[in-house]
Amino acid sequence: MNSLFDLSGKTAAVLGGTGELGGAMALALAQAGASVAILGRNAQNGDAKVARIEHEGGKARFFFADALDKAALVQTRNEIESSFGEISILVNAAGGNKPGATLPPGADFCALDLEAWNEVFDLNLAGGALIPSQVFGEKMVERGQGSIINIASMSGMIPLSRVVAYSAAKAAVLNLTMFLAREWAQQGVRVNAISPGFFPAEQNKKLLFNDDGSYSQRGQSIINHTPMARFGVAEELAGAVVFLASQKASSFMTGQNVVLDGGFSSCTI
Ligand SMILES: NC(=O)c1ccc[n+]([C@@H]2O[C@H](COP(=O)([O-])OP(=O)(O)OC[C@H]3O[C@@H](n4cnc5c(N)ncnc54)[C@H](O)[C@@H]3O)[C@@H](O)[C@H]2O)c1
Repeated sequence: MNSLFDLSGKTAAVLGGTGELGGAMALALAQAGASVAILGRNAQNGDAKVARIEHEGGKARFFFADALDKAALVQTRNEIESSFGEISILVNAAGGNKPGATLPPGADFCALDLEAWNEVFDLNLAGGALIPSQVFGEKMVERGQGSIINIASMSGMIPLSRVVAYSAAKAAVLNLTMFLAREWAQQGVRVNAISPGFFPAEQNKKLLFNDDGSYSQRGQSIINHTPMARFGVAEELAGAVVFLASQKASSFMTGQNVVLDGGFSSCTI
C-alpha cells in the first residue's frame, strides 16, 4: 500500500513553491521521496523552503522563475532537467489575489479597475496554469508521462463577493484543467486541480485578519459559513497533492478537481 504513494526517483517542479501553500506541497512531495525544484521570484523564501525540506531529509533546490515569462521559464526548465532531473510532476501554485482588484465593501462593480483585473487574471490563469503547463507539459508529452496539478480555488466554483477577478480567473483555471486533461489523456499526462478553501497566507491575510490578528468581518463570516468552523492549515494539502502526483495512486484520474475547504462549498446557509 505504501508504494502507491512512493515518489522516489521522480522530480517535481513547484511553481510558487516559495509561498505558503506551494511550500507545504513541495515538502509533502519531498517527504514522499521526490526531488523537488522550488520555483519562484523570491530567493530568500525559496532558500528557506529548501532548507526546511533538507532538514526533513528530503532533496530540493531553488530556481528563480517568473511564471509569466515563457522564454525564461523554458531556460529554467532546461537547466532543471539537465542539472537536477527530468520533471514528471508539476504543481502550479503561483498565484493569488491583489488588493487593487478587490471591490471595497459596497463598491460599484462597474468601476472595477480593468488594469487590476488583467493583472490578477494574468497571474492566476496565464502564470498560474497556462504558461507553465505549456513549458513543462511539452516535455511530459514528449516522454509520455506526467502529472500536472493546478492550484485553483473554491472561489472558482462559487464566486465569492468582492474578489471577482480572482474568482473568474480560478474558474478559468478549472476549465483549462479539464481542457488539458482531454488534450493529453492519450499522451500519458494527467491534469487535475486542487481547490483549497481558506488558508491564511501572505496574499489573503489582509482580507481575513485585522492588524491586531483578530478575524476581520469577512474572516469571521467565512468561519461562520464553514462547517468545520476554522481556516485550513497548509499541511492539510499534503495528502491530495501526493495522491494526484502519484501515477500509481491516481492513474485513472484526470480532469478532476479535489476540493479541500472544511465543507464551505457544501454549506448553503
Ligand atoms: N491561501 C488560500 O486560502 C488559497 C485558497 C485557494 C487558492 N489559493 C491558491 O494557492 C496558490 C498559492 O497561494 P498561497 O495562498 O500559498 O499564497 P502565497 O502568496 O503564500 O504564495 C504564492 C506564491 O506565488 C509566488 N508568485 C507570485 N507571482 C509569481 C510569478 N509571476 N512567478 C513566480 N511566482 C510567483 C509568490 O511570490 C508566492 O511565493 C495560489 O494560486 C492561490 O491563488 C490559495
